[in-house]
Amino acid sequence: MITLNGIEKTFLNGVKALDGASLALHQGEIHAVLGENGAGKSTLMHVLAGFLRADAGNIAVDGKERRFYGYADALDAGIGMVKQHPLIADGFPVWTACAIGAEGGFFLAPKKSRARVESVCEKWGFSLPLDKDSSSLTVSQRQTVAVVCLLLHGCSVFIFDEVTAVLSLDETKRLFSLFMRLKQGGAGIALISHKLDEALSIADRVTVLRKGKTIASLSATESNGETLNELIFGKGLKGKDWELGVGEGENILSIQNLAVTDAVGLPFLRDVTMGVARGSIVGVAGVRDSGTETLELALTGFLKRDSGIICLNGVEVNGNPLTFRDAGGAYLAADRVGVCLAPNLTLWDNLVIHAHRKNRFFLDKKFLNDWAAAIMNKMKTEWGDDWEKRSFNETALSFSGGQLQRLVLQRELAEDAGLFVLSEPFWGLDAQSCAYLVQRLRSVAAHGGAVLVFSADIDNIIPLCDTIFVLRDGRIVETIHGPMENRKQRLVKAMV
Ligand SMILES: Nc1ncnc2c1ncn2[C@@H]1O[C@H](COP(=O)(O)OP(=O)(O)O)[C@@H](O)[C@H]1O
Ligand SMILES: [Mg+2]
Repeated sequence: MITLNGIEKTFLNGVKALDGASLALHQGEIHAVLGENGAGKSTLMHVLAGFLRADAGNIAVDGKERRFYGYADALDAGIGMVKQHPLIADGFPVWTACAIGAEGGFFLAPKKSRARVESVCEKWGFSLPLDKDSSSLTVSQRQTVAVVCLLLHGCSVFIFDEVTAVLSLDETKRLFSLFMRLKQGGAGIALISHKLDEALSIADRVTVLRKGKTIASLSATESNGETLNELIFGKGLKGKDWELGVGEGENILSIQNLAVTDAVGLPFLRDVTMGVARGSIVGVAGVRDSGTETLELALTGFLKRDSGIICLNGVEVNGNPLTFRDAGGAYLAADRVGVCLAPNLTLWDNLVIHAHRKNRFFLDKKFLNDWAAAIMNKMKTEWGDDWEKRSFNETALSFSGGQLQRLVLQRELAEDAGLFVLSEPFWGLDAQSCAYLVQRLRSVAAHGGAVLVFSADIDNIIPLCDTIFVLRDGRIVETIHGPMENRKQRLVKAMV
């Protein structure tokens, strides 16, 4: 058993992320760690995994106090962490990426290492393409590699930080069956997730953090969505039921017979024709490699089409993101770190990343400062983020995942755009932020704007969208609109 007691952590920027948090994780249990964005979940898990040192408090493994000076110490104690996008050795055969760091012995013995990886995969039922290049792996496979690494290190406690947020339904199912196997093998699992239902479906125990403190620790059978929401947010959720928009304006975006071939290793898009009307919220769903990503990149100008027409506000967009923006498009890219955000640039830079083009002749510093300040102000008043202590000079990396998600959303929503293309807008958002986002998008549509959402999170898009297009093998195979009944069955059936 592992216990964390009275853990405190204040970051250099003065943010007290942990304020006496505690957690008890047993072997053979799956433990969900819940809390709103910024509650301190990741920080606490980083302390447990040895990535961060606590200012106060203690960690005990099987009753013996341990000090972790780095993650190697935690690994030594059998504790390892799997992140959403695990860092693995790219450009090596997959088995090497699994075995790296866990070779043991003095000499490298490739044959033996590969055999060890293979036997671990066999034992736990992983199907990884062991001899393929590791750079070609999907996120889900990369997470699996990270688990194999930890197993090779002899870990018996696994921490998963919001890993399911980037997985499809199927991948999540597979991951959860792995959790069950690990649990049956006696391992302890800590799972951070924003999806309450999902967490409750697998967890044995639940610990809720709020503002760096442990609010409650209870068994999953004695908790339900409602009580947990109250524990997480401290008050009832102010969700509202929305009427579906009419969406009968003329098309702001029209795509005709769009075809894109596989120049960058993405799947083809074949003969896609669709429109997005002013005043509507439209969804695009599909499993990985169904073409949704290609469509997203093509219509926002990041990919060139082969044939067909993409027209935004009467302007043709073809392979130029700036044309897309100039024609009145805003875009939240799925690639949050890279396309959306420059992690090592300051918050200020990241906030004005598009705004600086509004005046083409010179850099209007005052305008940009006001722009950034307005976004920060909205973060506080609308999203309930207390950013007062934060400075514009901090790098984006010093904000929590959920904070960054809301920040880039707010930055895009601040654009005076006619069409908002949002890829996975619900990623990393807690339930309250999800509810608020839905309100915001409804209001965009109600004011004559249009929203196009790309998402695999069908539970969130089904009630949100007026129309949902389902892609499979690069084609639109189903168009869903009208009543909510049967939407889910139809969607799932069309996707796979
Ligand atoms: N490296 C860091 N530097 C400064 N502040 C940080 C850093 N990491 C997290 N924080 C702050 O600590 C608080 C808790 O963050 P985090 O543990 O990531 O929250 P959660 O995972 O529950 O969403 C947030 O206010 C966040 O901005
Ligand atoms: Mg986090």
